[in-house]
Amino acid sequence: RRVTISVIKADIGSIAGHHKVHPDTIAAATRVLAEAKRKGTIIDFYVTHVGDDLQLIMTHRKGVDSPEIHGLAWEAFKKAAEVAKELGLYAAGQDLLSDAFSGNVRGLGPGVAEMEFVERPSEPIVVFMADKTEPGAFNLPLYRIFADPFNTAGLVIDPRMHDGFKFEVLDVLEGKYVVLNAPEELYDLLALIGTPSRYVIKRIYRKRDNEIAAVVSVERLNLIAGRYVGKDDPVAIVRAQSGFPAVGEILEPFSFPHLVAGWMRGSHWGPLMPVSLRDAKCTRFDGPPRIVALGFQVTKGKLIGPVDLFDDPAFDEARRLAQQIADYMRRHGPFMPHRLGPEEMEYTTLPQVLEKLKNRFAEAKDYEKYIKPKIKKSELLTGEETHD
Ligand code: 13P
Ligand code: 13P
Ligand code: MG
Ligand code: MG
Ligand code: MG
Ligand code: MG
Ligand code: MG
Repeated sequence: RRVTISVIKADIGSIAGHHKVHPDTIAAATRVLAEAKRKGTIIDFYVTHVGDDLQLIMTHRKGVDSPEIHGLAWEAFKKAAEVAKELGLYAAGQDLLSDAFSGNVRGLGPGVAEMEFVERPSEPIVVFMADKTEPGAFNLPLYRIFADPFNTAGLVIDPRMHDGFKFEVLDVLEGKYVVLNAPEELYDLLALIGTPSRYVIKRIYRKRDNEIAAVVSVERLNLIAGRYVGKDDPVAIVRAQSGFPAVGEILEPFSFPHLVAGWMRGSHWGPLMPVSLRDAKCTRFDGPPRIVALGFQVTKGKLIGPVDLFDDPAFDEARRLAQQIADYMRRHGPFMPHRLGPEEMEYTTLPQVLEKLKNRFAEAKDYEKYIKPKIKKSELLTGEETHD
């Protein structure tokens, strides 16, 4: 029987900065979903938070992009945002960018990861939720989970995975996507997803039968709003075991706290620190960027769990390394490569600074002499003989 998992999230305000969701706003969203469960709109749900992002994990029979489910999520966020406003929480309603809801929350600010499948006799899933980063933060770990045999032994050992996986990669600037096959097109895949601000893994399918294996929320808030509105703080759903990577293979890439874009004012590179729900709050320099992994069994549509998968000393060293990387990166202050590059800063105050200084830029007299290229392209030595 087909079941749909919908993970829909939004920042509706935080207590004391961008640090953490207030319990009363969680309660408000929970009341909305509990009522929907009672009415039978959804089968089951789990409401939680990572940092200042409120997460709705729901199961139902209505498929992806269901207006009813999106409407429910929208209502839960609205109710939670009302409470946030009453409490005077910081940036109340932050990710609810418009009131023009018409059946789908995509493009209005919330992040959405949904997948529909026929439930297996035992259906383990992992729900990842991050704060202070962007959807491309999942590129590296998803590559490792579904394409790197040094991470995922099952790619070599399990005949059901041995053909590999298909990666649907979205170009968030052009609004186009391409499907690339692993392992045959690994280098093409890496050429794209190595630019995580632009090329984002959206879905992954098992090649032998096209079963959905993973899905990521790819909404980019600043591209939607045209201005800085915090980071997207993405979520992802991954199916595990019996022909999919084992849970341990799915968690393994997070033992390396790779650098992701986000952190303070959404404008800095920092390590992605795997944490338990207890530590899912962003303090140091509004971070460092954090990720939580919750494991569930989906059984007849019910969510059995969760288990808090990073609540484990096995990830202590990753956390310690993340802190050392945080120290090291912070010492660069406002300098790149701690601060993001100019393309990403377009959505911050940088354009205003440039505008203000516009008339104070003088012609550089020596430019002609030293910097301007004088050699015509046809005159350039190719260097083919000496430089490989
Ligand atoms: P089990 O035999 O316990 O299912 O373990 C298999 C496995 O996938 C371990 O990684
Ligand atoms: P959020 O996207 O988590 O609200 O982050 C905003 C911010 O500016 C953190 O410094
Ligand atoms: Mg916030
Ligand atoms: Mg956030
Ligand atoms: Mg955000
Ligand atoms: Mg076993
Ligand atoms: Mg040289």
